[in-house]
Amino acid sequence: MTRSLAKSNAHFEQAVKHLPLGVASNFRYWGADKTIYVKSGRGGRITDLDDNHYVDYRLGYGPAILGYADPRVDEAARKGMEVGGVFALSTELELAVAKRISKMVPAAELVRFSNSGTEAVMAALRLARAYTGKDDYVLLEGGYHGLFDAAMWYTPMENWGQVGEPEIKPYSEGIPVGTKSWAHFVQANDADGLETILKKHSHKIAALLIEPIMGNCLGIAAEPDYLRAARTLCDKYGVLLIIDEVKTGFRVARGGVQELYGVHADLCTFAKAVANGYPISVLAGREEIMRKIGQGVAHGGTYTAHAVSLSAAEKTLEILDETDALEVIERYGTKLRQGMSRILEARGIAHSFVGHPSMSGLYFAHTPPRTYRDWKGSDYSFYDAMAQELHEEGVLCEPDSREPWFVCAAHDESCLADTLKGFEIAVDRTVAAGIEARKVPA
Ligand SMILES: Cc1ncc(COP(=O)(O)O)c(C=O)c1O
Repeated sequence: MTRSLAKSNAHFEQAVKHLPLGVASNFRYWGADKTIYVKSGRGGRITDLDDNHYVDYRLGYGPAILGYADPRVDEAARKGMEVGGVFALSTELELAVAKRISKMVPAAELVRFSNSGTEAVMAALRLARAYTGKDDYVLLEGGYHGLFDAAMWYTPMENWGQVGEPEIKPYSEGIPVGTKSWAHFVQANDADGLETILKKHSHKIAALLIEPIMGNCLGIAAEPDYLRAARTLCDKYGVLLIIDEVKTGFRVARGGVQELYGVHADLCTFAKAVANGYPISVLAGREEIMRKIGQGVAHGGTYTAHAVSLSAAEKTLEILDETDALEVIERYGTKLRQGMSRILEARGIAHSFVGHPSMSGLYFAHTPPRTYRDWKGSDYSFYDAMAQELHEEGVLCEPDSREPWFVCAAHDESCLADTLKGFEIAVDRTVAAGIEARKVPA
């Protein structure tokens, strides 16, 4: 190990006495000796308590779309602070941000705000159930939609033996087993599988809840024909299409994944990139459905639409809409992929990229995955070992191969050079440690 984590380790020992796992979110715990605590973040880089510097590709799982501490957004947030707090009343800012969202995302005819992605998706599902009068919903294997009970059923692949159907399990203890019966699972890019489920159960299915670029599963991307088919099938069977754009929204295109694919959702959700990291999320959709809010459907919250977050959102969305920030991000992401490919190809290591250049999954197999089950057939253990070496070399990716690499507008040429230098060293160390990577087919 080349870097010292002495201060982070010492902090962990104190923190764990007061906080479960020593952190505020389970995903931030990487083990007693590996959990890092952040001192500061600027642009595309963060510094930890031990003054280790990292080029950061986690970006808080996506929010820092313009980079950490963007001065334009922070100035707007300070103006939001001057509004004075939360009033259990609305401010003028809500309308300004709602109008911008409707302009950028045509399917977002009406908009409601909340604080986290979980809250937005939970509200979308409730609204879909209220509108259709049905309780069940369809999820994709490998999807993630937040920490509410209905979304916390999944098909863990770790123990799947690559034959038969994977087991459906709860993400956590404490999820009422009764909630399992509402969730139906299909594989990504399998329109026939989706139709089979809808044909059989559409009388009780309210919605298909889908991330067309799976931001929690390598960025596995829907094939355009599949997404169009899913839209048609939802209409045919009277099921709402909820597109969860918590990660893709205002990132993969100004109008998110819906613009990229030319497919409109009935309801859609946004969070991460909306306010460059200030807490806010969005439920939006077709007017006819959204008008049920307040006409029988409950929605609200004490901290909903805080002026600090709204003011930050107004500025962030203005920048994303009116400047070339997203093109800058896409160009950087493309160069990053090309640089990594050069290094891997020179060593004959089979690999492919998935998702979008702004949120890339690096996959250790020659053919990109179409479904979560494909991940099982890749050399993810090579990735896991390499990720630890990358951290040593100041490149911060998620230790788990299923989380894509997020790019922000502040990642510049120096970030790219540092990343590729670290990447080369990390790959070579992983190979030298005897961890087998599959070779490019002859
Ligand atoms: C697609 C998707 N939906 C919902 C969520 C939940 O968002 P939050 O963590 O803000 O509650 C996430 C979080 O990563 C997500 O990626």
